[in-house]
This record gives sequence, C-alpha cells and structure tokens, in this order.
Amino acid sequence: MSTKIDMVKFARFCKDMGFIYPSSEIYGGINGFWDYGPLGVELKRNIKEAWWYDMVRNPPPGPDGRELRMVGLDCAIIMNPRVWQASGHLSGFSDLMVDCRECKGRFRADQLLELPCPLKPSVRVGKYEKCQLTEPRPFNLMFQTYVGAIQSQDHIAYLRPETAQGIFVNFKNVLDSSRLKIPFGIAQIGKAFRNEINPRNYTFRSREFEQMEIEFFCHPRESQMWYEYWRDVRKNWYVRLGLTSDKLRPREQGREELAHYSCGTTDIEYLFPFADEPQELEGVAHRGDFDLSAHARHSGKDLSYFDEDGWNALLLERLAPYQNDKAQREEIKKVLERDEKPKFQFVPHVIEPSAGVDRFLLAVLCEAYSEDTVPDAKGRPETRTVMRFHPRLAPIKAAVFPLVNKDGMDEVAYKLYRELKPHFAVVYDHSGAIGRRYRRQDEAGTPFCITIDGETLQNNSVTIRDRDTLQQIRVNLDEVQRWLTEALRPH
Ligand code: GAP
Repeated sequence: MSTKIDMVKFARFCKDMGFIYPSSEIYGGINGFWDYGPLGVELKRNIKEAWWYDMVRNPPPGPDGRELRMVGLDCAIIMNPRVWQASGHLSGFSDLMVDCRECKGRFRADQLLELPCPLKPSVRVGKYEKCQLTEPRPFNLMFQTYVGAIQSQDHIAYLRPETAQGIFVNFKNVLDSSRLKIPFGIAQIGKAFRNEINPRNYTFRSREFEQMEIEFFCHPRESQMWYEYWRDVRKNWYVRLGLTSDKLRPREQGREELAHYSCGTTDIEYLFPFADEPQELEGVAHRGDFDLSAHARHSGKDLSYFDEDGWNALLLERLAPYQNDKAQREEIKKVLERDEKPKFQFVPHVIEPSAGVDRFLLAVLCEAYSEDTVPDAKGRPETRTVMRFHPRLAPIKAAVFPLVNKDGMDEVAYKLYRELKPHFAVVYDHSGAIGRRYRRQDEAGTPFCITIDGETLQNNSVTIRDRDTLQQIRVNLDEVQRWLTEALRPH
C-alpha cells in the first residue's frame, strides 16, 4: 500500500515529468481542463487500449462459461438535442447551487460545509457575517452551443455529458447491421463534457474528460445475474492492472443515492490521497429498460427485441407431438402465435459499467508513485522516486543503454533499440552515468532497462534490470524481443 502523497508536490512531479499539464497554462490556465504530456498521453492510450482489448476484443467468458458478444461504437459528440430530452438530461442533469451576492461566488449547495469563504478563507461559505447567500437553484451541467450560423433557440445543441446515449440511440442500427443476439454489449470510449460548478482535486472532477462505457443488453429475467457479473469483472480489472492496495473498494449505493434510471448501482471506488473517503472511479448500474423505453417513446421508433431463438424452440417443442397431423399443427401454431409469441418481444434490460479514463489514470499515478532507498553506483543509499506502473500501462516499456559510449557498445545498443522500436515504446539513452539513467527511467515508470556492457561484446548477452526488484538477469541479444513480448503479455 502506497503512503499518503503531498498532492502539491505530486502535481509538480506530474508536470515536470510530462504526465499532466494545466491546460493553456501560459495564459493562466482554465479551471477544470487539463492536457496530457508525452508520458501522460502514452499512459492514457495504454489504459484505453487495455480496456478495449480486455472488454471488447477479448472479454472474459460469461457466467455460464460461454463467449461474450461485444462490439464497439464511435458516436458524434453533438447529437440531436431531443436525445437529451429523452434521456432526462435537459430537465434533470443539474446540481443545486447558491450564489453569494456579496462576493459574487457560486457554490454547490452540498459543498457549503467544505468550501472556504473567498472573502474570509478561515471560515466556510455562508459563515462570514458579510455572506449573502441565495436559495439553492438548479444549474444544468451541459455545455451548450449552436449548430450552424444562426444563434437562436432553434439551433441550440449540447456537448454530450456521457457517451452512453450514443449507444442507446444506435441500439437498433447495431442490432440490424451486426445480427447480434441478446445478450450482447456495445462499448464506446470518448470525450464527455460537464460544466462542473466546482472542478477540483486535480483531474478528478474535470469539465472535459473521457469515459469508457459499456451498455450490456440482456433479457430482463437475467439482468440481476449480468449486473453481478459486470460488477465483479470490472472490479477485478482494476486489480489486474495494478490497483492492488486496499484503497480499491466496490460499494453498493443506498436506495436514496440511486440515479433516476437505476434500480441498483455499485460504485467502484478508490481512496485518493486528497480525500478522506474513497471516491468513484466507475459506476456499474442496472438501468433496467429505462433508456430504450424512453428513446422509443420520444422517437416513436420501436426499440424492442424479438427473441427468435426462444420462439422457434417453443414452436418446435409444442408441435413435435403432431408431426403427422398438419391440420392440428396449423391450429396449435395459430393459438401459440396469439397467446405466446408476444411474450418473446421485450425491451431489453441494460447493465452499464461506466468508467472514467482520467480518474483511473489519476488512480494509477497515485498508486504507482513511491519513494524508496536504493544503493547508488558507489553503494551509498540514495532516495529515488519510482512509478511502479503495471508493465501493460507503463508509458515506456524498456530503455536501452550502452554502459559506456566506447568499444562499439553504443553501436550494439542503438541497433537493438532500432530493432525493438517497431514493436514496443522504447527509448535509447547514452548520456550520463548509468545510475542517473536508471533513475530517469524509474521516475518515468519504465519497467525494464536493457544494458549493453563488456560481456555483451564477448558472449552476446545483455542485462535486463527490473524496476521494482532491481534484479538483473542476462538474456541473449537475439532473445530480447521475445522476452519483452512475454513480460508485457496481458494475463
Ligand atoms: N453513463 C453513466 C454516467 O455517465 P457517471 O457516474 O455520471 O455515470 C461515469 O459517470 C464515470 O465518468 C464516473 O465514474 C467517472 O469516472 C467519470 N466522470 C464523471 N464525471 C466526471 C468529471 N467531472 N471528471 C472526470 N471524470 C468524470
């Protein structure tokens, strides 16, 4: 378990290393928006690729051991505004806020007890004698824009506050074009925007962020089973990618907390260093038939599903005793079509594991960040900062060093680097003492450092140093690529 982190020092480290920068910083930044630097962007890509690979291309088998059917989607950020009417976002996606007539500040009503008064920071908002707070009023969190050249009420559109609705409105398209049968899931990764009243805690609550969402469509009678399945699969995914400390916890929401669409939600939470209580990384929600029914009502389109296989199985079973009696079979079929067939038409239920890319990335950074003491080149203890990323997520997978830049070691090292480069994110570093080069890679979280030394020139073997154990093994030069492939394989 990592120790408590000083968040100011941590944010400076993340900036210095090129993980995260404040957006448009040279103009003073903009609250709630962040940029990812050279290491951060690789980390983010690795997170999204791991999710896509583990959930869409190669998901774990279902509760019955059968293969899971998952497909992907990439929807527009701006959609017909009626989508947001149907989803309930136009009327209900708001936070209650209060204004202060004295300082002109605007605050979330549920955070008054935590926020310092801008005029007198030693007391909470509303507690200074000059504070003049209004009654709480709803404030819609959707970013509004206009489509086209005319800025009128008729041309208002919204930046999506979640990727989920793009999946619901494409349910029929995916069904028709891919001939999938229920149960199946549609996955999407993409940007979402929320005009948060109080963005805070570094990137945790941002105004622009990315989501990784799955809408899993199933038969209503199986929905509880799939809800439990996804809750466990998603929790285990975080553990597999390195959130192994007891800071990760699933928490079933109480009835009073549930969103309007949900009949059960488990939040997968992480105890971030800036908070006293674990905070949400992902919500796994049982949404029932809320979304498809709402879009069917608002669009006038039929979004129900007909269970063809179930219906054919019933016909086969009921007609089997009348193989040789055509008239009787026709008679029974008519009755079944009237009484039984409608039962095979239903609106699927939806289980939704909805994760935030940026929140997971922040948790990965916090969990990976540590300081320890290692011997320097002369054997003296030295403090190092090391990012203990899971190798699959590490921005750089390996660094290649010549021990010294002579006797042809640099040529061999550079050649190896060029051979590895098409396959892995690797760097070549030949400047400074070897200890310094190791430290640089420890700070970037590079799991393996490969060094070409005198022995390489004699027997073609290189050393591979493990970032966490500091152990060094010798591997034949020709085997390095295979060794790395194995070490980085998803498992
Ligand atoms: N479709 C359901 C949905 O959007 P949500 O709980 O509002 O549910 C899902 O959001 C996830 O999106 C959260 O668990 C979180 O990881 C991420 N998220 C939500 N708001 C965010 C914000 N302001 N900044 C960063 N991530 C956010």
